[in-house]
Amino acid sequence: MKNQEILHDEDESFASASRIKYFDMVIESGEGAILKDVEGNEYIDLLASASSTNTGHSHPHVVDAITKQAQKLIQYTPAYFANLPAAQLAKRLTELAPIDGPAELSWGNSGSDANDALIKFARGYTGRQDVVSFTGAYHGSTYGSMSASGVSLNMNRKMGPLMSGFYKVPFPSPWYREPYETEDEFVDRMFEEFKLPFDTYLPADEVAVILIEPIQGDGGIVKAPEKYLKKVYEFAHEHGILFAIDEVNQGMGRTGKWWSIQQFDGIYPDLMTVGKSLASGLPLSAVIGKKEIIESLEAPANVYTTAGNPVTTAAAMATIDVIEDEHLLERSERLGVKSKVFFDRMKEKYNFVGDVRMYGLDGGIDIVDPKTGKADVKVATKLIYRMFELGVIMITVRGNVLRFQPPLVITEEQLEKAFDVIDQAMDDEANGRIQFDKTIGWSTD
Ligand SMILES: Cc1ncc(COP(=O)(O)O)c(C=O)c1O
Repeated sequence: MKNQEILHDEDESFASASRIKYFDMVIESGEGAILKDVEGNEYIDLLASASSTNTGHSHPHVVDAITKQAQKLIQYTPAYFANLPAAQLAKRLTELAPIDGPAELSWGNSGSDANDALIKFARGYTGRQDVVSFTGAYHGSTYGSMSASGVSLNMNRKMGPLMSGFYKVPFPSPWYREPYETEDEFVDRMFEEFKLPFDTYLPADEVAVILIEPIQGDGGIVKAPEKYLKKVYEFAHEHGILFAIDEVNQGMGRTGKWWSIQQFDGIYPDLMTVGKSLASGLPLSAVIGKKEIIESLEAPANVYTTAGNPVTTAAAMATIDVIEDEHLLERSERLGVKSKVFFDRMKEKYNFVGDVRMYGLDGGIDIVDPKTGKADVKVATKLIYRMFELGVIMITVRGNVLRFQPPLVITEEQLEKAFDVIDQAMDDEANGRIQFDKTIGWSTD
């Protein structure tokens, strides 16, 4: 079967709302960082299934764990009875979590429902209702997590009202920094903006939780300035507000640490969510929090028939083994340094490459109009399309930011090959050789 035929047939029965369209390919198989489509074309994957396959496609240890568990027991609902892999994983994952003191967790099936659960526990524990989150955040696609998100108008359009009690403050992204501002001045100004709702209409003693991606993913792969996050963290503590982080995209070794919050000194969340790569992409998520917070609700406040399923939790145990045994944190950090050098070289060479941010194998590379320095969605789109033609899968976020998140097991040879393709695509753009003017990717309006 051909890619186009399958896509054409699928289109008859599949919702437009459920795919952000990039390239016409139907994936058939994957191994490590290599994907193959149904026509046999091979691609180097720089997206890792949206950072949900950090251990690479079909890692043999994970496949083996899934197979063995499936032969024994595929499912019995953890809502009623325990199963061994889930029980073992609960202990292992709470011990790995960057939470100060005893922690507990509750399972989910997706990052979205884990963030909903986080809101339930925060409200349950504090007896307060309000939730503060950040513009540019993507927390998921259920009503609760959508209400906390602020990254695409299509996530609100025609579906309101979203949940009440949600307030958004601006994330301190570098593009909001004025050229004349020092980092400290920028942090102070953004913190004043953070406090504005609290000073004017939002009583801090009614706020249950502040929820943040310490490094925003879909917001542009961008790290909050350390001083800023510290101020927010201290503000939360001063007012009895829980401090919560979303590690769904940036956790599980992506940034060269287990959790992106470990890129900041001395910050320990009260609550956090994890998903995506937790079970190498099988549907498993968790909300993890201080014991007393997670104990604040009684069953069935947060049960799902399939959450904590034996196969997904066995896959998660194997995923953690792989990250430890193959030293993927160190690998992410080391290859991230190499990637930063490469993209900085591209910035020197091509005037449309703007800010380069890299935290382990986790990068956001801005594509800008050299005359204005503003986002250039058209050029970014042409670049990723050309890369696709040349055998590399990379997508954009915010329209103009190249999203660089390869599987952490990518070999150095594959990485070098991908760099050659990126350089070639940029050279093609610089010399007017790319003809592509379709609108693809995240809607920017
Ligand atoms: C930071 C973050 N949180 C939550 C989610 C939602 O996860 P899921 O798509 O598994 O519901 C995502 C998905 O992209 C994400 O990037």
